[in-house]
Amino acid sequence: MRIISIANQKGGCGKTTTAVNLAASLAVNQRKVLLIDFDPQAHATAGLNIQAKINIYDCLSNLSPQKASLQDIIVNVAENFDLAPSSIILSTLEQELANEISRENRLQETIAAVKDCYDYIIIDCPPALGILTVNAICASNEVIVPVEPSRFSIEGLNRLLDILQLIRNRLNHNVEYMVLVTIFDSRLKYAFKILAELRNKFRENMLSNIIHVNVKLKESQSFGTSVLGFDKYSRGAKDYYSLAKEVISMEKGAGQAIAPTATAPVLKKKMRELVKKHISNLREVVVKADFPEAKEVYLAGDFNNWSQDESSAMVNESGSWQKRVSLKEGQYHYRLIVDGKWVADPQNPNMERNPYGEFDSLLKVSSAPTS
Ligand SMILES: Nc1ncnc2c1ncn2[C@@H]1O[C@H](COP(=O)(O)OP(=O)(O)OP(=O)(O)O)[C@@H](O)[C@H]1O
Ligand SMILES: [Mg+2]
Repeated sequence: MRIISIANQKGGCGKTTTAVNLAASLAVNQRKVLLIDFDPQAHATAGLNIQAKINIYDCLSNLSPQKASLQDIIVNVAENFDLAPSSIILSTLEQELANEISRENRLQETIAAVKDCYDYIIIDCPPALGILTVNAICASNEVIVPVEPSRFSIEGLNRLLDILQLIRNRLNHNVEYMVLVTIFDSRLKYAFKILAELRNKFRENMLSNIIHVNVKLKESQSFGTSVLGFDKYSRGAKDYYSLAKEVISMEKGAGQAIAPTATAPVLKKKMRELVKKHISNLREVVVKADFPEAKEVYLAGDFNNWSQDESSAMVNESGSWQKRVSLKEGQYHYRLIVDGKWVADPQNPNMERNPYGEFDSLLKVSSAPTS
């Protein structure tokens, strides 16, 4: 079983949105999930429209008049998806635990009773690095750190990593961490810059999926459901579904499906042949555009899903922008995005009117020469 805390002391960076929607997406992928709302703000509880008389405080506090076990407070939200709700009273726990021995392990001890019932326990942490977050981290084997690309996000992240180090050294508890970029607005240039900085700094600790800005994520909260239950075709739903797939791909044993039997070399050979065949069908094409005044230019087309991100950014060589793409034989449509403005390629006379009444440039790729 994997226990994953969603933590960042910075407020409003998408912890609760991630906790709720990752839990829901894991559940639709046939994983049994418990989401623990460990934030006195109880946003996950409210966001899933749960009203509870007893909550996680009653499991952890010795002063609670209605002392409960974790099983007592668990509410079923959807198939494979349970919630341990929270309440504002959880904010008093910090003071209550101040002088207690082994206070960092209170949540871990509470979780022990249900460990065998779930594939995943996801813990939504409060926006602080106090005893609640430390309890969550001590109970977890992994931490996902949601980061909204902003000027101070890397500094904040460093402080959280210091705490993980402290927990490792002082409490002898080791957790893996993964950085998740959230609330990513692809209209903003600095968002790409910070994404590149984060990828450069945190490398293998970065999750490959990112969560884009999507209003359905906000709306679903006020309708008391996960985004999958609200609009499963929205970008928010797709982003969290892909994230769940990535998290699942890290499960122990995943990706090791081919046992080292006698058939493995045969499969490897076949795979090599397939890759070779695929590569030999590709032609490298260089698209060039002269925009000496431009600050950024992207090449977006039907071959890259019309995306405007770092993979489609053109490279500036003294005012002449270039992008190499490897494509199979065929005809493709593309446009250039010059400082945020979508235009047809002025140097390419081959164009076709698109459904919006504008022109797409055409790129014809002829078959690769046979060797
Ligand atoms: N990808 C997104 N697109 C649009 N809105 C988002 C996205 N992610 C989060 N939000 C919105 O941003 C706000 C803050 O998100 P959320 O509550 O998940 O952050 P948080 O880190 O849990 O906050 P806190 O630190 O207060 O617990 C919410 O209103 C949420 O609906
Ligand atoms: Mg929250």
